[in-house]
Amino acid sequence: MQHIIAPSILSADFANLQRDVEMINSSNADWFHVDIMDGVFVPNISFGFPVVKAIKKYAKKPLDVHLMIVEPDKYIQTFCDAGADILTVHLEACNHLHRTVQHIKSIGMQAGVAINPHTSVDLLKDIISDIDLVCMMSVNPGFGGQKFIENTYNKIISLTELIKAKNSKAKIEIDGGVDLKNALPLLKAGANVLVAGNTVFSSSNPVQTIGELKSIEL
Ligand code: DX5
Ligand code: ZN
Repeated sequence: MQHIIAPSILSADFANLQRDVEMINSSNADWFHVDIMDGVFVPNISFGFPVVKAIKKYAKKPLDVHLMIVEPDKYIQTFCDAGADILTVHLEACNHLHRTVQHIKSIGMQAGVAINPHTSVDLLKDIISDIDLVCMMSVNPGFGGQKFIENTYNKIISLTELIKAKNSKAKIEIDGGVDLKNALPLLKAGANVLVAGNTVFSSSNPVQTIGELKSIEL
């Protein structure tokens, strides 16, 4: 499978959101990564439903919505209605993760589970067969432009083993601090999806940078 590139809208220029959405449409990116932060689960607030709907209005690629919020169950249907194609909840935010995942899938979205840098891959053992995506945080969630945590490589290796052992179809998404240097080693370690915020939006030519990430060959 060729890898997937998901630019993170968190680093877009919100005063020119339509322009940035069109830029991603015109690039070789595969998904829009959409970060939702509530100021409780993470120490930052990003944006809510009206903005997700506005992105959906112009986006020509799937919305990969990453919920960094407490009590995500309350909003699963609303995010579906707002246009999420893939909905990812944090393992650390869910008491009944299996139920949450089944709910997401039952209304037609793909289900993802995100894990923080301190959360062991072993905790995914009994859910990995039910999910479409693991969002492995390679920074502590809350902000764009942070430094990549190197232990992520060990976690990708463990997760790849788990996915194989359980015959799961889950993709491994790496979120945080992805750049043009670590993209290749991450893909070599087993990543399938690379999220990139700062790397794309701080580039003088974002379309070209997305193209460079997409054309990496293993
Ligand atoms: C961090 C978010 C990330 C963020 C990535 O909490 O979940 O998706 O936008 O941004 P960069 O690529 O700049 O680290
Ligand atoms: Zn994210």
